[in-house]
Amino acid sequence: MHTTSPDQPLRLLRVLGSPRGAASESRRLSQQIVDALVATRSVALTDVDTSELPAVDSGYALALAAREDPQTPAAAGSALHRSDALIAQLAAADAVVIATPMHNFTLPSSLKAWVDHIVRIRATFSVTPQGKIGSLRDRPVYVAISSGGLITGESARQPDFMRPYLRHTLATIGLHDLHFVTVEGTALGEAALCAGRQAATEAVDKLFARR
Ligand SMILES: Cc1cc2nc3c(=O)[nH]c(=O)nc-3n(C[C@H](O)[C@H](O)[C@H](O)COP(=O)(O)O)c2cc1C
Repeated sequence: MHTTSPDQPLRLLRVLGSPRGAASESRRLSQQIVDALVATRSVALTDVDTSELPAVDSGYALALAAREDPQTPAAAGSALHRSDALIAQLAAADAVVIATPMHNFTLPSSLKAWVDHIVRIRATFSVTPQGKIGSLRDRPVYVAISSGGLITGESARQPDFMRPYLRHTLATIGLHDLHFVTVEGTALGEAALCAGRQAATEAVDKLFARR
């Protein structure tokens, strides 16, 4: 499953999508995933806080719309330069954890900004007559989602565009091995939060018991 030998630390990239920092419920859940990985082998963890990531700009949009990449390296500080760094960071990871709240039925805008930086023509996918083909090596991606209401099962009263969106978008760049864990009902009172956390813990245990 993982591409490094067990003697090497697992290079784990964690992408944090919540604006709530250490208080974030999705971050809390993602830490359980990190801990489960740490329990089996040594891990070198790198965090990316997407709340510090600006949206892509017009220079970036122009560069992507051009027929080929610029011949000169991207200028330091430009969105293209930042995109180069984020893609290199992702490409170097053996596994990825995404921690994200549900915002208006989908991912928060800061995490979308990360997606816009890493899903990039000629860099992480190419366009072919068969459609977009990803160029990144596949690796496990664990997605920890927190939602104020319920998003799974018959009790859910809202659509979930997050999971299908991430499945489709990450598959576009070659990442197909996705594992979702959710903590749901965080806004429904203390009892619901406890039940949501308990269900999430059981889901993480189940996920890693199989590995
Ligand atoms: C702007 C915004 C939009 C939200 N939209 C939804 C939503 O569509 N569905 C939902 O269940 N919860 C929604 N919530 C609640 C969050 O998903 C919930 O509080 C979650 O636990 C926050 O996770 P975090 O602590 O990791 O940020 C929204 C919260 C915010 C701030």
